[in-house]
Amino acid sequence: MRDAQPSTIYLSDYQVPAYLIDTTELAFELGEDSSLVTSLLHIRRNPAANQLGAALVLHGTELELLSLAIDGRVLTASEWSQSGEQLVIADVPEAFVLRCETRIRPQENTSLEGLYKSSGMFCTQCEAEGFRKITYYLDRPDVMSVFTVEITADAQRYPVLLSNGNLVATETLTDGRHKTVWQDPFPKPAYLFALVAGKLSCVSDSFRTMNGRDVDLKIYVEDKDLDKCDHAMASLKNAMRWDEEVYGREYDLDIFNIVAVDDFNMGAMENKSLNIFNTSCVLAKPETTTDAGFQRVEGVVAHEYFHNWSGNRVTCRDWFQLSLKEGFTVFRDSEFSADMGSPTVKRVEDVTLLRTAQFAEDAGPMAHPIRPDSFIEISNFYTVTVYEKGAEVVRMIHTLLGPDAFRKGSDLYFERHDGQAVTCEDFVLAMEAASGVDLSQFRNWYSQAGTPKLSVSGDYDAEQQSYTLNVSQSCPATPGQSSKAPFHIPLKVALLGEAGQLPLQLLGESANVESADNTEMVLNVTEQTQSFTFTGINELPVPSLLRGFSAPVKLDFDYSREQLLRLMRGDSDGFCRWDASQQLGLAEIKRALADVAAGQNVAPDAAYLAACRDLLSDGSLDGAMVAMMLQLPSEAYLAEIFHPVDVLAIHHAREALRLAIATALQLELLDCYNRCCSDAPYAADAEQIAQRSLKNTALAYLMLLDNESARELATAQFENSENMTDRLAALNALVNSAAPYKAKALQSFYQNWQHEPLVINQWFQVQAMCRLPGSLETVQGLMNHPAFDIRNPNKVRALIGAFCGQNGVNFHREDGAGYRFLGDQVIILNRSNPQIASRLLVPLTKWRKYLPAAQQLMCAELQRILAEPDLSSDVYEVVSKSLQ
Ligand code: ARG
Ligand code: ZN
Repeated sequence: MRDAQPSTIYLSDYQVPAYLIDTTELAFELGEDSSLVTSLLHIRRNPAANQLGAALVLHGTELELLSLAIDGRVLTASEWSQSGEQLVIADVPEAFVLRCETRIRPQENTSLEGLYKSSGMFCTQCEAEGFRKITYYLDRPDVMSVFTVEITADAQRYPVLLSNGNLVATETLTDGRHKTVWQDPFPKPAYLFALVAGKLSCVSDSFRTMNGRDVDLKIYVEDKDLDKCDHAMASLKNAMRWDEEVYGREYDLDIFNIVAVDDFNMGAMENKSLNIFNTSCVLAKPETTTDAGFQRVEGVVAHEYFHNWSGNRVTCRDWFQLSLKEGFTVFRDSEFSADMGSPTVKRVEDVTLLRTAQFAEDAGPMAHPIRPDSFIEISNFYTVTVYEKGAEVVRMIHTLLGPDAFRKGSDLYFERHDGQAVTCEDFVLAMEAASGVDLSQFRNWYSQAGTPKLSVSGDYDAEQQSYTLNVSQSCPATPGQSSKAPFHIPLKVALLGEAGQLPLQLLGESANVESADNTEMVLNVTEQTQSFTFTGINELPVPSLLRGFSAPVKLDFDYSREQLLRLMRGDSDGFCRWDASQQLGLAEIKRALADVAAGQNVAPDAAYLAACRDLLSDGSLDGAMVAMMLQLPSEAYLAEIFHPVDVLAIHHAREALRLAIATALQLELLDCYNRCCSDAPYAADAEQIAQRSLKNTALAYLMLLDNESARELATAQFENSENMTDRLAALNALVNSAAPYKAKALQSFYQNWQHEPLVINQWFQVQAMCRLPGSLETVQGLMNHPAFDIRNPNKVRALIGAFCGQNGVNFHREDGAGYRFLGDQVIILNRSNPQIASRLLVPLTKWRKYLPAAQQLMCAELQRILAEPDLSSDVYEVVSKSLQ
């Protein structure tokens, strides 16, 4: 909780640490009321600091300090002082051993930061600044230390005691307690420290590295979850192999442990050799887990594993550099997932997240560059901007350099900086040095916030046989940045002629030729306005622009419907085909809005319907692509297009359009549904996932008709499915229909799965996202359900988060009850778990987008939160910035 005014930290104030901690010895005595932590820190003045006589200033929060000693001499109270998070020892030698004893209360720690208890086990989460809740320390990532950790605990309650690195000793004590000692040979910052103690079972496997070393792999879970570890283990081994093959990175210890915990603020954490995971990101089996769940496990397991190099061996100098490890690692994990499954589907999924959540963040009050230059609470900067836009920035470097030079750059980066805490600048420098590509202007992506807009037009000159693309870029103002310098934007293009892609010959030199057949190019857009002329073009082409979504920008080109239909049918770039379908869908939604406003029936365009019909009928197409192209742009995406956003009008027009499509295409939808049904045993592979996704897209459309035959399909699918993907899709369709069976379906689902918390979270979420009127009351009722627990972040996200973030039509009720509900929950969570509170409140911060009446109601809730006493720095920062 904050004292007075939380202060802002600036990147420009960075100073090297005055002291270093070469070795850290920690002893934990874990108890039922409280735990004792004794630390021995081998500290010396930092020769690089040049601050002679500086006091030693350690970080610590919510600690009970029992004793402090330097080189064996106990300090008296006058030799140290405390203020806020700081413990100051004014007078210390050049080099010394500091001994410190603290008492902490993990059982009372509901913030899930530092050492806490989750379902009877002790576990830790130290990133970013949680270690200071364990003991006094230089809790900053540029202080790296070799850790030895001794854990003592009751042997019955906590048979498994784990920390980072290698197990070097175990001991059974006489009083029913036991002890283990762990040593991690790699120096690391405190945020990578981890400890686990509990009654855990494990699944074991092993991996032989490229140099023939065998690594012991273990996944620790509760006994009842032992049957849900296979997918995570397979994903881990795939990730280890992939990192060797694609990046030449080998694992560096003989053991690698993953532990699953129920109560976790985020997805997972890359602690050295002891990754700690949210159960939702590690447990999976077909009966309980959807396809999306399987893919999430694969992606997160890989992400945390990849951090061993991009994050642990080379870490961040300070938290402003967070994207150095997160952007790079997200890029790595998305390339991995693309390789394991369908690259186009993965790309479209990533783009969708970016164009909804990230573009919204970039246009809102919390907009920040991927390398922010100030923050109040660093936990608020684990954002889609730092992660996903950060990954897009790395992807653009990959595009500009090409795969071979990019690999040389990453090799050089790891070689230069192994064992160091470095900056985004160091990453860019290594990429430049290895490739010879000048990234000076490209650096604006690191320092400037906001989503650039690219306006493109095309001029065909039949006489000259040339085609010119006129490109102009702009970027809206964001908080603290009123005007922006032009970005270096890689614009990947092709020109479609009647018989395929045309060979590209560019006048001038400003591109990297990409494809072997010369029909695709990356244009270097660097000026505010710029033209690119292609010669030898003997027909009017349709330009295929921003192929593969080559830059995180909003692209504007005035395509005709015919051109879009051509792109959708025939572009060789999967992203562009899908995007054309979305632009066509957007045009339909705009017409539907006008029709509804004029009191007319919504009638989709015949050519659009014909294209959808072709998609449905062509069994040779990739089902997942078809499913994605058949879906209209989401309400979240539409909220980024319309100004102001009339949530209810958009929702109702979009639903009316969906119903009209379902009505027009019901035969094709049913055919497609039947074609996609299969008895093959479940596998989470690209082909099956595609088939299920198309089948369930068809089911959702058919259920809009809400007739007996559709209800029968959904009911049969709900009752007979053996996998959770199909069962949940059917439940979702039923819940959003008027089918009387839905109450029974919900009830039987609960009965069957009440012992599986992750499944019950899905059950909460389906109800929280129901589009029909009354969802708020349902959610309020479910908060009193015995299976709900506001202390558990997964449950909060499933019920409150899903309702406020993904159920626009109900959250934005005209009476403001949705906003009040969120305000109430944020105020409650502010006390128990500030990180979750501040994340939950994001939908309210977007108030400026909506109609005046909504704006007023949303603002009133923000004001009410701001007036709360004892606001955490997390909530304070988000609320105060969004009211500025
Ligand atoms: N480094 C972790 C990951 O991306 C996330 C940790 C986030 N922790 C936090 N307190 N926000 O894999
Ligand atoms: Zn990460």
